Amino acid sequence: MKKRAINIALLGIGTIGTGVAKVLMNKTKTLARQAGSPIDLKLVVEKDTSRYGVLGLDKKLFTDDYEKAVKNKDIDIVIELIGGEYPAYDFIKKALTNEKHVVTANKEVMAKHGARLLSIAREHHVGLRFEASVGGGIPLIAPFQRDLVANDIQAIYAIVNGTTNYILTRMAHDHIDFSVALKQAQKLGYAEANPSNDVGGLDAAYKLGILTSLGFDMAVNFNQIYYEGISKMKSKDFRYASEFGYAIKLLAIAKRSNDLVEARVHPVLIPAESLLAKVDGVYNAIYVTGDLVGNVLFYGQGAGRSI
Ligand code: HSE
Repeated sequence: MKKRAINIALLGIGTIGTGVAKVLMNKTKTLARQAGSPIDLKLVVEKDTSRYGVLGLDKKLFTDDYEKAVKNKDIDIVIELIGGEYPAYDFIKKALTNEKHVVTANKEVMAKHGARLLSIAREHHVGLRFEASVGGGIPLIAPFQRDLVANDIQAIYAIVNGTTNYILTRMAHDHIDFSVALKQAQKLGYAEANPSNDVGGLDAAYKLGILTSLGFDMAVNFNQIYYEGISKMKSKDFRYASEFGYAIKLLAIAKRSNDLVEARVHPVLIPAESLLAKVDGVYNAIYVTGDLVGNVLFYGQGAGRSI
């Protein structure tokens, strides 16, 4: 008997959405083999419907009506790639309450509302997956949710923002100022046109909120995470750091101390010979210490990989 296809609605075709649509269109055989059924991109929801041409998709698949996707009974999985808190949060919530599985890369929504949305997903017996919200393509969320669960996590030290890591790498190696390094990052497409969330540390703080809630199994109040960015860094800071045997990295840190967990994002001096000091460019790395696993390092490209 021919297997029924799994129908997907994709919300948002910006850079990431376009990449995901291409994967869904170009890797049909691999995906069908893995899923056990064909996967069909049934609906693309985008405010600017004139963008259908970008993907060479049938115009009929395009709509600007988000409600239609999250309520459509033929849709099994909603992929949310609109970004930002609202209306993305509302669409995810509606999709889950309408018994659709949801996949999202939305770090802001997951950092601020993850606990609530995961509970709605459980109530409605559907999945909410957010692997791409932290660490780009590094398999990270699933190991925290599955493989590390018997561990008492003691600490997470993470480089989770590719843009700032690229800028700090250029400042350290090429002895250039922050503004020059930022321009280079923008030219190469690593930094966004408005890079304030990245360079201000907010993007890393969202990601730390997600990692802290998973690693320490707690509801994190995102507003309690301290964050500070890199825009005040000077070229001479790197020279002094290097003379004393240190590198400077923007670290997202979560640490257990007694019954509390501290969570903060800021530039940190770290010994030049440490593993995290050697993570350069747009790469991300997440160093986790747990009582059973010891020390484990997740490493890979965060931002900037075009699919
Ligand atoms: N702006 C983010 C970064 C993209 O630079 O890491 C990936 O979340």
